[in-house]
Order: sequence, then C-alpha cells, then structure tokens
Amino acid sequence: MYGPTHKAGAVASLRNIKTPSKVAKLVMERSGHVLLVGEGALKFARAHGFKEEDLLTEKAREIWLKWKEAMSDKDYWLSPDEKKIMAELRPYIEHYGTINCLAKDGAGVLAGVTTTSGYAFKIPGRVGDSPIIGAGLYVDNTIGAAGSTGFGEANLRTCSSFQVVQFMGQGFSPEESCLKAMQVIAEKARLQPRLLNEDGLPNFGHSFYAVNKKGEYGSAGMWSGHRYAVHDGKENKHKEEAYLFKRKK
Ligand code: GLY
Repeated sequence: MYGPTHKAGAVASLRNIKTPSKVAKLVMERSGHVLLVGEGALKFARAHGFKEEDLLTEKAREIWLKWKEAMSDKDYWLSPDEKKIMAELRPYIEHYGTINCLAKDGAGVLAGVTTTSGYAFKIPGRVGDSPIIGAGLYVDNTIGAAGSTGFGEANLRTCSSFQVVQFMGQGFSPEESCLKAMQVIAEKARLQPRLLNEDGLPNFGHSFYAVNKKGEYGSAGMWSGHRYAVHDGKENKHKEEAYLFKRKK
C-alpha cells in the first residue's frame, strides 16, 4: 500500500510464486484492482514474467507426509477435541512466516507491505489477514502506517491495522496505538473459549507494528518476549516490543 496515492495491491491463494509481494505491487501499479486471487492472480503473475517454482521444502514435505499418512484431523476444522489437537499442531503452525515492513522516506512518504505463506494445515481456500487491506496492513499518508504478524483471523475480525492507524490519528503514539488495538483483540478473544489458555487469556501470539507521519515508531505483542527490527535512518537495531501480557517463565 502506497501512501501518496492511497492505492493498494494484493494477491491471495497464489501458488508457486516465490515473491508474491512483488506481484501484489504490480496489481497496485498496473491494474485498476486491489485484490487478485487464485488462478487469476497466477495468470497475472505469469503475464508479468514471474516464473513458477516448486516451493515445497523437504522438511515441509516430510511434515505433510506424516500428516497425510496419519489421516490427521489436526487442521482447522473445529472438533470437540480441538484444544488437544491445537496443542500438538502449534509447533508446526507458529513458524513466524509473516513479515510486515513499513517505511517513511525523507519527504514523508509512507508505504507498507505484509507478506506470508499463511498457516500450515489451513483449510484449502483460507485467506489470512496479510492481503486484506485494513486487516494485516494499512497506510494513510496523512497519519501513519501499521501492519501485523500473528493470528490472521483476529485481524480479519477487528480490521485491526486500520484501527492502529485510526488510534494514531486520534493522537496516540505508535506504541500506544498498537497496544490499544491488541486490547480489542484480547477482549474479543474472550468471546471464544477455544482461543483462551487455562488462565482465560489469549492462547495465540500476535504483534502490531506502526510508524507515524513524524517517523515515530512502535510495536506491541500480545505476549512479552518479542523484538522487532528498525532502521531509524542511521542504523539497524532490534527493539523490545511492548506487550499486553507477561509470559510465564
Ligand atoms: N498473519 C498471517 C496469517 O494469518 O496468515
């Protein structure tokens, strides 16, 4: 999403293309649309010279094979045994595959991108938050930019990147804005027992990142212990995320 034009481009359910964010950028620049999915997105990518590749790694293939051999029900169909199933599944799905990158240049131009392979064992056809403008990414050149990694469904249900930017527009700092949007997600999670741990708190990790028009930046996680990377114009550094809940040792 590009601040000065308020244009955005996205692709979803795009298979075999290594750099989908580059296809998304072309959707923004070379089409009048915002979101292309599936076969149409692939045709668009091919037309722009992208090569199809087998992106399955050997490790992922082995995990998939085990899942297949076991005729596993460890996926996102909801079952009465879901808590147990999700506990087993979690090591495979929390692989931190999503990246959000936000930028402001010297002229005050804001832009952002979020890219992901989505969750393992998702139901085919599932689209997460990353390609949905307002959920996994949002940019308003007059205010700031925000994006997210983590539990996509939570962002889809709360339009949370849009919310982070709106909080900044109300005068909250980027970090405060990330925390406020996280609070909304934590409150809404309480309506779904399957999303809560034994202490009644969200059982998923989640992070927001934000930068405002002045170049101030911040990030917040659902849980403590995460860092994010910043280049402040002078140097690269890692910063601790603010957080809602402290993880037990
Ligand atoms: N946040 C990435 C996804 O849920 O697919």
